[in-house]
Amino acid sequence: MGTDGPKAENLTWHGGEVSRADRERAHGHRGATLWLTGLSGSGKSTLAGRLDAKLHARGCVTYVLDGDNVRHGLNRDLGFAPEERKENIRRIGEVAKLFTDAGVIVLTAFISPYRDDRAQARALLPEGDFIEVHVDADLDTCESRDPKGLYKKARAGEIRGFTGIDAPYEAPASPEVRVDTSVQNPDACADQVIAWLEAKGILAPG
Ligand code: ADX
Repeated sequence: MGTDGPKAENLTWHGGEVSRADRERAHGHRGATLWLTGLSGSGKSTLAGRLDAKLHARGCVTYVLDGDNVRHGLNRDLGFAPEERKENIRRIGEVAKLFTDAGVIVLTAFISPYRDDRAQARALLPEGDFIEVHVDADLDTCESRDPKGLYKKARAGEIRGFTGIDAPYEAPASPEVRVDTSVQNPDACADQVIAWLEAKGILAPG
């Protein structure tokens, strides 16, 4: 499972009758991928949900791709070894690219712990369309939340290769946006991201 060209030969790329610009005009905003990355329990799903609700209420066309959900379907064949996480992120990147081309604001909520994997997802999209949001919270905070009881299991040795415990998390060096969920509530974090989108002209001021 690599990042090379397609395995199949004799493929022809088809352009459509409706362009991305046509769709964006109809939606009243640009398509974009908001790529949320952070430790388990950092608040990615909560923030994606808040952003989804706030943007939807403004009439934006949005969609959330969430780690646990996508692993029930599209990526049900993948576990958590580094190569499997890589393939997980590669597929999500491709899906996010399609949604963005459809003029949708995609919100992805995956740990996506490896810098290289996130860089590959970024490289799939036109410049400016991939917006990395570091959902930051220190490990102690995430572990004390432990919404799924997984840190407890990881500490007990019942889960191996758990991010932050015995598998790495490579924090983004220069994300477009960084929110600190240990000090800001979900609404404040969502408002910070929306203000950034407005400042960059991706969204018209609300
Ligand atoms: S990623 O590393 O490949 O980006 P992803 O976001 O899809 O991870 O899935 C993370 C979720 O899977 C966690 O929130 C947690 O519920 C669950 N999970 C199960 N095992 C692990 C593990 N070893 N490391 C991290 N998360 C795990």
